[in-house]
Amino acid sequence: MKAMLLINHGGPEMLRYGEAPNPMAGPGEVVVDIHAASVNAADYKVRLGGGRYSLSRFPHILGRDFSGVVSAIGAGVTGFTVGDAVFGVTDQGIEGAYAEKIAINAAIIAKKPDRLSHVEAAALALTGLTALTAIEDTAQLKAGQTILIQGGAGGVAGFGVQLAKYLGATVITTASASNHLYVRSLGADQVIDYDADDFTAIGPICDVVFDTVGGDVQARSYAVLKPGGKLVWIAPAPEGFRPARSDVQTLRPNVIRDRAHLERMLALLDLGAIRPPTIVRYKLADAAEAHRVSEARHLQGTLVLEVR
Ligand SMILES: NC(=O)c1ccc[n+]([C@@H]2O[C@H](COP(=O)([O-])OP(=O)(O)OC[C@H]3O[C@@H](n4cnc5c(N)ncnc54)[C@H](OP(=O)(O)O)[C@@H]3O)[C@@H](O)[C@H]2O)c1
Repeated sequence: MKAMLLINHGGPEMLRYGEAPNPMAGPGEVVVDIHAASVNAADYKVRLGGGRYSLSRFPHILGRDFSGVVSAIGAGVTGFTVGDAVFGVTDQGIEGAYAEKIAINAAIIAKKPDRLSHVEAAALALTGLTALTAIEDTAQLKAGQTILIQGGAGGVAGFGVQLAKYLGATVITTASASNHLYVRSLGADQVIDYDADDFTAIGPICDVVFDTVGGDVQARSYAVLKPGGKLVWIAPAPEGFRPARSDVQTLRPNVIRDRAHLERMLALLDLGAIRPPTIVRYKLADAAEAHRVSEARHLQGTLVLEVR
């Protein structure tokens, strides 16, 4: 089982946690006994290696977000006690959540409320953090604006559809036909079947495009922006692509890990603005199968590994 979770290929030095099978809580850190870890698209990209996903220190444990129970507390940590249920996202450049234990900076995790299961909290952590940073902090989406969210059935985009609707925007999204009911249930006002229809046919009516698909989809998304509009992306455009328009902004969110965003997510859940996505569960030992589904890029919601 371990061999499947560890990666063995080369590349530049990058990651720190996830190397120790029995992590200790350093100053400012807690050790969390992980109950659930989600499988994000970034994970299969790291496994495949190359470019910004290259690694140099091995073995390497994948996984960026988790939910679990605090089992040890490092010097200087306040606000947590052993036994607290917590959830969070590893800091940028750090991984290691496909594991039984993780040591993590206590300042960037939050307490998990009882109303959320570990599986739900893990499913919402990185996807929610990313969508909040993209739509609230970066796009600064306002009530009355129109947003096109590319790939509405995915983990980040599904959170984004709900958030954009809650903020009072008109929400257009793209999805394959089998996901239309799902994205409508999340609050999408208009769903475009990208297999049957060209999404650019809506014309330049959008204040914001949130692109979670990338590639040619991003390149073509400029056609639907109003002058002054914003294209916010988390999946890259084709290599060497340069937008032809200078009257719109291209923005990449800096998804900082912090407790404030996790607590904003919990507040939105309390308000009923957000609900957990469709979740498909796998045992940790079946992480390879979860990766096959993730890599195929047509899942609905989020894949979560049950660790204990
Ligand atoms: N910090 C960051 O910058 C950050 C954080 C998280 C994720 N990401 C990146 O964001 C991207 C999305 O991540 P995720 O975890 O949300 O993805 P995901 O859950 O893997 O979502 C894939 C979704 O994309 C949809 N899709 C595939 N091709 C499409 C197309 N041509 N048009 C419209 N929808 C399409 C699929 O739905 P259908 O079956 O309906 O096609 C599927 O639901 C990944 O590239 C990931 O690496 C970046």
